[in-house]
Amino acid sequence: MSDQNTGQIDNVLQEDRLFPPPAEFSAAAKIGSMADYQTLYDAALNDPDKFWGDIAKEEMHWFKPFDTVCTQSGKDAQWFTGGQTNISYNCLDANIEAGNGDRAAIIWEGEPGDQRTLTYTQLHAEVCKFANALKSLDVGVGDVVSIYMPMTPELAIAMLACTRIGAVHSVIFAGFSAEAIADRNNDASAKVQITSDGLFRRGKVLPLKATVDTALEKSPTVKHCIVLKRAENEIAMTEGRDVWWHDLMDAASDDCPATPLDSEATSFILYTSGSTGKPKGIRHTTAGYNIWVKKTFQWVFDWKPEDVYWCTADCGWITGHSYIVYGPMANGATCLMYEGAPNHPAPNRFWDIVERHKVTILYTAPTAIRAFVQWGDEHIKKHDLSSLRLLGTVGEGINPETWVWYHETIGNKNCPIVDTWWQTETGGIMMSPLPGATATKPGSCTQPLPGIVPVIVDESLTEVGANQGGMLCIAKPWPGMLRGIWGDEKRFEEQYWSMFPGNYLTGDNARVDDDGYYWIMGRIDDVINVSGHRLSTIEVESAMVSHPNVAECAAVGRPHEIKGQAIAVFISIKDAEPTDELRDELKLHVRKEIGALAVPDDIRFTQSLPKTRSGKIMRRLLRDIAAGRETAGDVSTLEDLSVLAKLKSDDKS
Ligand code: PRX
Repeated sequence: MSDQNTGQIDNVLQEDRLFPPPAEFSAAAKIGSMADYQTLYDAALNDPDKFWGDIAKEEMHWFKPFDTVCTQSGKDAQWFTGGQTNISYNCLDANIEAGNGDRAAIIWEGEPGDQRTLTYTQLHAEVCKFANALKSLDVGVGDVVSIYMPMTPELAIAMLACTRIGAVHSVIFAGFSAEAIADRNNDASAKVQITSDGLFRRGKVLPLKATVDTALEKSPTVKHCIVLKRAENEIAMTEGRDVWWHDLMDAASDDCPATPLDSEATSFILYTSGSTGKPKGIRHTTAGYNIWVKKTFQWVFDWKPEDVYWCTADCGWITGHSYIVYGPMANGATCLMYEGAPNHPAPNRFWDIVERHKVTILYTAPTAIRAFVQWGDEHIKKHDLSSLRLLGTVGEGINPETWVWYHETIGNKNCPIVDTWWQTETGGIMMSPLPGATATKPGSCTQPLPGIVPVIVDESLTEVGANQGGMLCIAKPWPGMLRGIWGDEKRFEEQYWSMFPGNYLTGDNARVDDDGYYWIMGRIDDVINVSGHRLSTIEVESAMVSHPNVAECAAVGRPHEIKGQAIAVFISIKDAEPTDELRDELKLHVRKEIGALAVPDDIRFTQSLPKTRSGKIMRRLLRDIAAGRETAGDVSTLEDLSVLAKLKSDDKS
């Protein structure tokens, strides 16, 4: 566990179990041994220009060939400059040209049980039509399109239509509040909004359009709102602004050649939490991102054309961008896409889907796996999961016992598990086992992919030795790296590049063991990971403080059995009594300001917060209290020791 503010890291996890890949898996795998991995890794390290240049020429369509593979280093790195390509072309047209137009691209299942399959040819036609629809609303290269939609094929269609014409999509997870949508729309100067009437979740209809209506009142740059009919709930349409998806599609031609785009043209932005209250629009570009997600998908999932691949993420997060849409489709993969909750109508929903669709690769999150453990094995045992050959995890560390359960109960002890470490900023997977080559250790993301050079340093920027924790940085540029924070070059530099010039600062702590395996040890900054999603404590605090009865607030993460971390807030109130009604009201307030994801599990009222003499809240102490641990470490800088005693004796909600 890391003590996030002091930089000191105690290594408490000792895991010695080793799981070599099953022999049959390795025999059939494209990378079937550590020697193969090492050859690739060395080639990328020794001559990155040749390595990536060859891949780019072989695996991408170029309207115009690139001149240079990688120019500059650090934050200024540019990839494949001079070249022109198009991600949507590489994901659709290229597959059709290769003779795979009849292959299923998306096998979709709605929460109520409705199903659709779209082949690459059909998906191409839909994307072209929607691209023309966007053009009819005057959307062109560089315009930002804000997407707030359920997990329907139309979400992928909207994304691919944007990249087809060079529009920049900003997908906002459909659990965020109207405030959060408006903030992001304004930061990005979004021109068009796409949404749906509603979204099915656990049998209920969530009114997405109503939320968007509130957001658009505060989003002056948005000129049009396209509405997909999904849940058939009653909605209001604003004349002149709102237009039905199906009306636009009826009028659109399915002929829309992909626009040649510069390699470094922005492909999308995706907002993520950082250590300040303002979400950052992480900016990715075209060619490098495309190649990175294509290659990493091949390496990590040992993908084969006959696979039915299912990533259970939502397209509102980077995992959905890179490993539901762009990575798999750049390879011509068949992707399963599911709209709803894992326990609707019953806790066996996932396993029912795996059995019926004969899913071969399952990529999910530790938080989901912990929920399955809790729901009980009986929901799994009644299904035939023998189609599965590979399992993956992403979003947070997986604890070794959960890993072993996943391996035994879902994988029947014969599916390798790829624990993939990466971030919104990295575009794609950075460290992961290669399933036919790497012997896995539960809880470790094992080793870097070709092209990735990790380095772990202490506060004096000295590289630490084996088993000593420190800050994880990436020493060399890689094609999928972020290229900026939308509209905030200064923050981009400060956040990621200024601490250790030339190196990318990940914000995670890590250690490497004697075998060269990496272990991620949590965040350095004030970012907490709830159900695999990053939230900044400061965002939660800002939302809290905007309530008239909150004088001061500190939010911290505490361990949570299912969610990984839960949010605990310590609040001193004004002009109010510390009642349960106030607690409920504050929870509602955060839900409105940010969304359900950010609602704290614990709200503790306190007269004052523990502070240093310089007025800094001592979160380290609050983290201990929230977790029910003895407060450890030095308290000599605490201004008023009695605050600590009072906090400990206060009741928990
Ligand atoms: O702390 C790491 C954790 O999630 C952070 C990135 O969050 P986000 O940008 O939302 O992307 C999540 C999906 C890629 C990282 O900085 N994280 C992600 N994967 C792992 C992980 N921590 C440990 N092990 C992982 N496999």
